[in-house]
Amino acid sequence: MTLQMVSTTMTLTTLFSLLLIHCSLTIAVNPLCAAVCICENLEEEGFMKVDCSKVYLSIVPPVDDWPANITHMDLSSNNITELDTELSHDSVQVLDLSHNKIVNVAQNAFGGLSNLKYLNLANNGIKKLDDNGFYGLDHLKSLNLSSNGMYFLPDGLFYNFIGLQELSLADNPLVHIDPIHFNRMISLRWLDMSNVDLYTLPASIFHTTGQLEYLDLSANDFHSVPTDALRSAKALKYLKLSENPIVDLDKNSFKKLTTLEELILNNMDHLSEVMERTFSDLVSLRILEMKFNRHLTKINRLAFDGLFNESRPVLQEIDLESNHLRTLDKDMINCPRIRKFNVQNNPWTCDCNMKWIKTCDIQKIYAADLRCQEPQKLLNTLIDHMSEKEFECIYDETVVAKAIVHHERVVRSMSVGLAAGLLVILAFGIVLVFKWKDIRSWYRNSRRGPGAVYYVRARANPREIQNCQP
Ligand SMILES: *[C@@H]1O[C@H](CO)[C@@H](O)[C@H](O)[C@H]1NC(C)=O
Ligand SMILES: *[C@@H]1O[C@H](CO)[C@@H](O)[C@H](O)[C@H]1NC(C)=O
Ligand SMILES: *[C@@H]1O[C@H](CO)[C@@H](O)[C@H](O)[C@H]1NC(C)=O
Ligand SMILES: *[C@@H]1O[C@H](CO)[C@@H](O)[C@H](O)[C@H]1NC(C)=O
Repeated sequence: MTLQMVSTTMTLTTLFSLLLIHCSLTIAVNPLCAAVCICENLEEEGFMKVDCSKVYLSIVPPVDDWPANITHMDLSSNNITELDTELSHDSVQVLDLSHNKIVNVAQNAFGGLSNLKYLNLANNGIKKLDDNGFYGLDHLKSLNLSSNGMYFLPDGLFYNFIGLQELSLADNPLVHIDPIHFNRMISLRWLDMSNVDLYTLPASIFHTTGQLEYLDLSANDFHSVPTDALRSAKALKYLKLSENPIVDLDKNSFKKLTTLEELILNNMDHLSEVMERTFSDLVSLRILEMKFNRHLTKINRLAFDGLFNESRPVLQEIDLESNHLRTLDKDMINCPRIRKFNVQNNPWTCDCNMKWIKTCDIQKIYAADLRCQEPQKLLNTLIDHMSEKEFECIYDETVVAKAIVHHERVVRSMSVGLAAGLLVILAFGIVLVFKWKDIRSWYRNSRRGPGAVYYVRARANPREIQNCQP
């Protein structure tokens, strides 16, 4: 009897505890979280994150298996090749599908993710999307399509992106971009179009993206700055144009870009000259980076003309590291007013024309590779260790001496010639003054005298001469 009771109690207890375990499992552990993904529930911050990255998934796990209140789904770095069904989930806000092998995206693939704010499709093999490829993503704020094989964007692809703030199309062989794609992106602030084989931009392309502040156009095929298109971005603050085959920059390059605060022009292998007034219109510019342009030899002394006006705060950081500059005019940059001035790794000619550089307050980190290349006796000397006195304009003495001797010789022969000429003129003048009467009377006589008559007649008719004989 007692034994029976004990065993019944035991069974009940076991059953109960088993039930308890089961219950706690179903409440806390979702099959996905139990199996391969790491689930993180941060109630106080209001998110439920499921990390399924790098777990060799070859398909997107069925949405039914995702936790009910999931906000972040990370499926990056797997082997997913297709998005073939319509994903539908109300609470997901962040979906990361980057670094997979996605080639095909079904129509309406994201149609049921009505609260999605951030979608990352970077580093896949997407070549083409359907016109309604992003149908349903009405609340998307950020889309990353970088590093795919996209060569074509259908006209209606971004139609519902009125709220989109960030877009990366970087590293796709697009070649062409049409204003229709940005037509409705009135909230766009940040746009990366680096390395998309662009060589031109339509003048009106950013007319509707009035909030665009950041634009990356680096690693494209621009041979000149697409100034008109840039001017259509009325709020542009940051522009990156590095790695484009631009040869020179002039006063039209950045014309009227009065809102621009930061300009990056690095690694431009073709850039050789910056002409006068290139930066003069950039009245809001705070930071200029123009480095690793290995053929940039010349910056006109008026390139910044007007920018260092006392009434403006403006330019605070200039970085001209690793170009091929030999000299800079002392009036070009108001160097004591610049917070960061980096001109390291240029083949500087340390003569009297560069003496001004000692008046700049160059920070130690920008002085470590600030050296002279010329004159020979200062080769590799750190400018930081030099005194103002050492910036001299006396070159190789034998050359100078030769030049002086030559100069003197030229001057001497010229003055001898000049003196001789003057003497001749003087003599002639004296003769003229003293013999004026004689010359005049001689001249008169010669006109009146018989010789003249004879001469005329003789020419007229030789026979008359005989008739005229007295
Ligand atoms: C998600 O749901 C679980 C279980 O229902 C709950 O404990 C958690 O607080 C929820 N998290 C959020 C962020 O709402
Ligand atoms: C995923 O892709 C990697 C790299 O291509 C490969 O080595 C691996 O075997 C793949 N795994 C699966 C499960 O397909
Ligand atoms: C887009 O994704 C790539 C690769 O994951 C990343 O390097 C880049 O920072 C992302 N860009 C944005 C705007 O999120
Ligand atoms: C400085 O700017 C003001 C206003 O733009 C202008 O009136 C003034 O002539 C400028 N001064 C110099 C020295 O360029």
